[in-house]
Amino acid sequence: MSSVVQHNNQLDSPTFLIIFGITGDLSRRKLLPALWHLYRHHLLPRKFRIIGFSRRDFSDELFASFVRDTLANMFSAADTHTVRDFLSTFSYRQGHFNVKERYEALGEYLQSLERTYHTSANKLFYLAISPAHYEIALQNLHDSGITKHTAPAHPARILIEKPFGKDVDTAMALDEKLGKLFAEDQIYRIDHYLAKEMVQNMVNFRFSNFIFEALWNSVGIEKVHIRLLETLGMEGRGVFYSDTGALRDVGQNHLLQMLAVIAMENPGKLDAQHIRHARADVLGQLQSVEDFSRDIVRGQYEGFTLGEGIDSDAQTETYFKIRAFLNSPRWKGVPFILESGKRMRQKVASIIIYFKQAPGTLCTATDSRGCQNTLTFTLQPQEDISILFWAKKPGLSNEVEPRTLHFSYRDGTHSEHLPDAYERVLYDCFSGDQTLFAGTDEVRAAWHFITPIIERWHSQPLHAYGQGTDGPTSESFDAYA
Ligand code: BG6
Repeated sequence: MSSVVQHNNQLDSPTFLIIFGITGDLSRRKLLPALWHLYRHHLLPRKFRIIGFSRRDFSDELFASFVRDTLANMFSAADTHTVRDFLSTFSYRQGHFNVKERYEALGEYLQSLERTYHTSANKLFYLAISPAHYEIALQNLHDSGITKHTAPAHPARILIEKPFGKDVDTAMALDEKLGKLFAEDQIYRIDHYLAKEMVQNMVNFRFSNFIFEALWNSVGIEKVHIRLLETLGMEGRGVFYSDTGALRDVGQNHLLQMLAVIAMENPGKLDAQHIRHARADVLGQLQSVEDFSRDIVRGQYEGFTLGEGIDSDAQTETYFKIRAFLNSPRWKGVPFILESGKRMRQKVASIIIYFKQAPGTLCTATDSRGCQNTLTFTLQPQEDISILFWAKKPGLSNEVEPRTLHFSYRDGTHSEHLPDAYERVLYDCFSGDQTLFAGTDEVRAAWHFITPIIERWHSQPLHAYGQGTDGPTSESFDAYA
């Protein structure tokens, strides 16, 4: 997504992005800023329109002011002309998601826009709405014919946000519905973690650097720690979250996708079909968790139940830690620790690979880590890759000490714009590239692993932890190496 981006023919066609729920939280926080960045960096298709579809009653002018106000703190005085041109790409159609006639009216509007371009357009329908409306919205998109008014070379695309179902049954029912209404190459299931720069880099890093390959298995690796820790709490999402919990919110998707990328076999090719297949294979190898007291910690931060929209006796977890294993020759016996929490001491998303110590090592470290090497991929707050190794202390002693080799995208050697995950999501959908979107097999396998845990969740202890801490401690979890 820079000057070296390859030319993609899909970007030459007129493209309409129709955002359902454009006035909602996701759209305001992520989608509109991402569109603005793409526009400023000339990464949107040349003939491009954004159409908002929501319940609120807006004229096109009021809608443009809504977008301007939403993005006000991103615009500078120097952007005046660019902002004006950007805002001119927006228009608005009011509609309720369950009223088919509104979709038909939207369809007529899209056709009228196409006539101005004298050609058929790529149409992308982004469902940034509550999952409760998915079914009816998908049915109406289909029944109104709006997704069919298009040339065969440009099948309409449907972008659908997580959470994708609540468990394996609801997810598969939703998937079945999608599959009946649309072809798989029209469906873009979003997991924005897959679109993060460092997650993509993990694939490139692994399969471009042979030095780690021989160790990338249970012979070389002791354990893998995947974490997504946040300092933020509910941010106005208490109602949604108290019904969802951390495991469904980020475990079933973001953490398992990071695991899939770090543990997958060489996909053979870096294209959507091969990579999605390799990720799904790993997720299918997850062993079900049997010993909950040993392999699971579940926590809730103190004060959670005082939050707006949250029941005073809510048993929702805001933190979890799971020790997972893969049933494959490569990973036999290697624990993958998945950890996530809200209101934690630090904001960090990273994957730490702990290598085994070689037998016969002549380590002279006094450090408790005893010459263990680690490789860390940090996604947030700053993307970087670091390798911890041991080197002799300068001077007359023979003792070694820890040192790091370190690479950061933001060290000044790269001038390219580093796209936010949602920029990548949108750009790849415009380009018709499904690599960074979850396939149906991945979703199914992830839910197969998570659902039995959720079913026994509420019989497990819910440990309280203080806000701004490292989460609850559990001796039984930590005792098992
Ligand atoms: C979302 C979750 O999918 O991911 C949020 O619903 C979470 O609860 C967010 O805060 C984390 O994403 P990021 O990109 O801010 O790390």
